[in-house]
Amino acid sequence: MEKIRFGRTEMMVTPLTLGTWGIGGAGWDPNSDETRLDAIAAAVECGINFIDTAPAYNAGQAERYIGKALEDMGKGQREKVYIATKCANAFIGGQYVRSGRGDLILKQCEESLRNLRTDYIDLMIVHWPDPVVPYEETFGALNRLKEEGSVRHIGVSNFSLEELQKAMECADVEALQLQFSMVNQNNTKVLEWAHAHDLGVMTYGSLGGGILTGRYRTLKTYETMDNRNRFYPYFREPLFSRVMELLDVMQPVADRHGVTLAQVAINWSRQKCFVDTSIFGAQTRERILSNTACLNWSLTEEEMQELDRAILEKLG
Ligand SMILES: NC(=O)c1ccc[n+]([C@@H]2O[C@H](COP(=O)([O-])OP(=O)(O)OC[C@H]3O[C@@H](n4cnc5c(N)ncnc54)[C@H](OP(=O)(O)O)[C@@H]3O)[C@@H](O)[C@H]2O)c1
Repeated sequence: MEKIRFGRTEMMVTPLTLGTWGIGGAGWDPNSDETRLDAIAAAVECGINFIDTAPAYNAGQAERYIGKALEDMGKGQREKVYIATKCANAFIGGQYVRSGRGDLILKQCEESLRNLRTDYIDLMIVHWPDPVVPYEETFGALNRLKEEGSVRHIGVSNFSLEELQKAMECADVEALQLQFSMVNQNNTKVLEWAHAHDLGVMTYGSLGGGILTGRYRTLKTYETMDNRNRFYPYFREPLFSRVMELLDVMQPVADRHGVTLAQVAINWSRQKCFVDTSIFGAQTRERILSNTACLNWSLTEEEMQELDRAILEKLG
């Protein structure tokens, strides 16, 4: 699989990153341990070399699956992949709790290393900004972890441009992770700025939390803590109907290439010049292999423009 230099780091990453929020379990569809472990193995076997996770993904469960899957695959598998995990956000008693406190970050990192069965984390990302704790404290803890060798690179997620620039004054921030997809372009300017300043850019929610795969054609109600209810707003009106209309424009494009809607959505995101790697979440081998086949073809410039026009028309 093709590899791209990740910002100014030495990391050569694949244009697709496996996201493991769903694999972790909480707030997404249930699956067996075997299915989830096999999904991680499938991603590595088909050449994906970047895995995104977080202690907040079901209180470390996603990290534990990754640690076990890589160990089960045999010696040397850990070194074949880059692992990005996060800090400053936890999942406690079914609730997400944010804190940039330095002592918590050190403790979270220790737990992540244990969960992942490794002694280093390639990229440690501050999951969400904490407006209360001084950045000097949060990034001071990350600098210490980097000096000790537990963390190789520092990144941030869900930071505004102002917050990112403030963070860059406190540490050598080398990566940015933000939501970006056909249904969410709110962060385009920050992503472009990061790319222009040589940060590694990884984008999440490439499938709009699944709605861009075409698997949801009727609106249903999800439980309060289901991420299709609490995190992604596309599973509610008026957005739901507008996204359905967008799928009608995507379908002929998919048909022309003989591919799935999911592949069209991922390619639209990974083909944007400021995106280094697009993260998608999927819990089964079959979905991962099917989505990864997007690398066998590309949207033409005309198709990119056609889709951009449809997004503007349907979603504004
Ligand atoms: N930094 C942050 O704050 C943040 C926030 C959100 C996400 N992320 C990261 O980004 C990753 C990706 O985002 P996401 O997982 O939230 O959303 P996503 O990738 O946009 O969509 C994931 C959803 O799409 C479904 N799906 C994937 N491929 C499919 C296919 N071929 N056919 C049908 N359904 C398919 C998945 O189903 P199954 O899971 O049932 O297979 C899942 O429900 C996360 O896993 C996480 O690593 C980071």
